Amino acid sequence: MKNLILICITLLLVNTLSAQTFKYIGADKCKMCHNKPATGDQYGKWLKDPHAQAMKTLSNQASLDYAKKNGIADPAKEAKCLKCHSTFDKAAANLRAGITAQEGVSCESCHGPGSNYKSPSVMKNRELAMKSGLILPEKSVCLGCHNKENPFFKEFNFETAVAKIAHPNPAAK
Ligand code: HEC
Ligand code: HEC
Ligand code: HEC
Ligand code: HEC
Repeated sequence: MKNLILICITLLLVNTLSAQTFKYIGADKCKMCHNKPATGDQYGKWLKDPHAQAMKTLSNQASLDYAKKNGIADPAKEAKCLKCHSTFDKAAANLRAGITAQEGVSCESCHGPGSNYKSPSVMKNRELAMKSGLILPEKSVCLGCHNKENPFFKEFNFETAVAKIAHPNPAAK
């Protein structure tokens, strides 16, 4: 009974917090729990996936060439590019709580800002985690960036793309 009341209070609290209060804590905060090989080392996999390189890409030759042709001074500082290459830049300034500009497209662009779901008791309870801002991303999340507004757009196939960045937890049911 005590537990039930506790759960009710927690759910109530969670419900009254609007999405706006969820803050971006940065991939380093997810790392401490999601870097174990036994549960899939999501952090290590992400580091090797192109999303973690998205900021570096904005300083590569292709970006510099594009910038020159299009009157952009520095693509790595250009809002038009950062909006898809940086989770930090996408987050409103008052919602940045630990996330860094260098981390490129990080966990929270796909899984939602983590300030309220990061604690183990919440994380282990999917329903509660999702009420606290956790997203298990579907195609629509990807299409927010994988679209023709990207000057380097390539056809996006959700199934193949998800397989390329997969970071499953082998210990999950
Ligand atoms: C204090 C530890 C901890 C932190 C910090 C943490 N997680 Fe988790 N997370 C867990 C645990 C425990 C689970 C349950 C499954 C498991 O054991 O991997 C989980 C599950 C998940 C799941 C799967 C949920 C489901 O129901 O399928 C996602 C996605 C996830 N975490 C993303 C993140 C992201 C993104 C961050 C950082 C913003 C983060 N986690 C921070 C411990 C943590
Ligand atoms: C916040 C924007 C953003 C979101 C959301 C996003 N991506 Fe990406 N994605 C990028 C950027 C930027 C790159 C290019 C990174 C680079 O090479 O520097 C990329 C690259 C990729 C690549 C490598 C390129 C390729 O075609 O092989 C794959 C695969 C991919 N994303 C899959 C996904 C999937 C699946 C989702 C949704 C679950 C997703 N992305 C959501 C921005 C995003
Ligand atoms: C609408 C979101 C979006 C915007 C805006 C955007 N990008 Fe990207 N960018 C992506 C995605 C997604 C990819 C991965 C494309 C793929 O391979 O499917 C990518 C890939 C790239 C690549 C790698 C291309 C390759 O094939 O190696 C470069 C370079 C790049 N972007 C530069 C830029 C620059 C410079 C800007 C600003 C002028 C910019 N992007 C704006 C989403 C975006
Ligand atoms: C480009 C989007 C994207 C990024 C970036 C991303 N993920 Fe995921 N993640 C996904 C997708 C898609 C799934 C599969 C969702 C499902 O099973 O419904 C997933 C699943 C997971 C799961 C559940 C695995 C399982 O099998 O239960 C965890 C845990 C997780 N991600 C953690 C992270 C962490 C931590 C980071 C950053 C270090 C991260 N993810 C970055 C898209 C992303």
